[in-house]
Amino acid sequence: MIKSQKLRKECGYTSDVLRKVPRSGSAAGNMLAIIGAMDEEVSRIKDAMTEVVIEKKAGMEFYCGKLAGKDAVVVRCGIGKVNAGICAQILADCYQADVMINTGVAGSLRAEINIGDIVLSEDTLQHDMDATGFGYPAGTIPRMEKSVFEADTKLIQIAEKACRKVNPEIGVHVGRVVSGDQFVFDKAKKNWLIENFNGYCCEMEGAAIAQAAYLNEIPFLIVRAISDKADDSASMDYSEFEMQAITHTVNLMMEIAQNL
Ligand code: ADE
Repeated sequence: MIKSQKLRKECGYTSDVLRKVPRSGSAAGNMLAIIGAMDEEVSRIKDAMTEVVIEKKAGMEFYCGKLAGKDAVVVRCGIGKVNAGICAQILADCYQADVMINTGVAGSLRAEINIGDIVLSEDTLQHDMDATGFGYPAGTIPRMEKSVFEADTKLIQIAEKACRKVNPEIGVHVGRVVSGDQFVFDKAKKNWLIENFNGYCCEMEGAAIAQAAYLNEIPFLIVRAISDKADDSASMDYSEFEMQAITHTVNLMMEIAQNL
């Protein structure tokens, strides 16, 4: 019986006793959790799994099994930060995730980051967290010790190397991912994100997963392929390039799993 199947029995909520110790530090643990917002972003990864058991929680289907011979759980969380945060907490509590990787598409915020390229999160924040009325800078979470969540450096290294191997024709960039409950499709908003946060790309889930990972002391990484330029042509570009971009993240996720 594989680890995820054993843990499933305990999960209703799993106690801290079952948690491997220590869980924090680096990408050294052995339960890989992969989260995508949409079916397109995870279906081919699920197809590559073996020994799969599917469990449903909070309306989400958790595919538990092996990926590239490693213990893994792959899930579509749905779009937006609330879905993403709920999903990440379930992965922490019920699946003892040692590593969390959020994969999917994003809008580019920099001229040199092209459609199809990959952005790996150096760090991430919520661009729509707004307590400016109380004097906090935009993006700051009041009464929390941090609002910018740093990705695991070992995971970044593994992913960067993996990306150059499996997607040699595209650019790979390491920088800030900014998340909000908003599809960004106008130049003014895009410029605001660049000026205020120096973002490399924008999407709708990563920072929520990162915050949950941080609170649970789990190393994380956001892996995003660029589907559009988050400007006036974003909606059209998204429809045209979404699947091409996803091919790059799927190739990359398989290679990362092999190298963990
Ligand atoms: N995901 C892909 N493109 C995006 C955009 N322009 N804004 C937010 N999320 C996205």
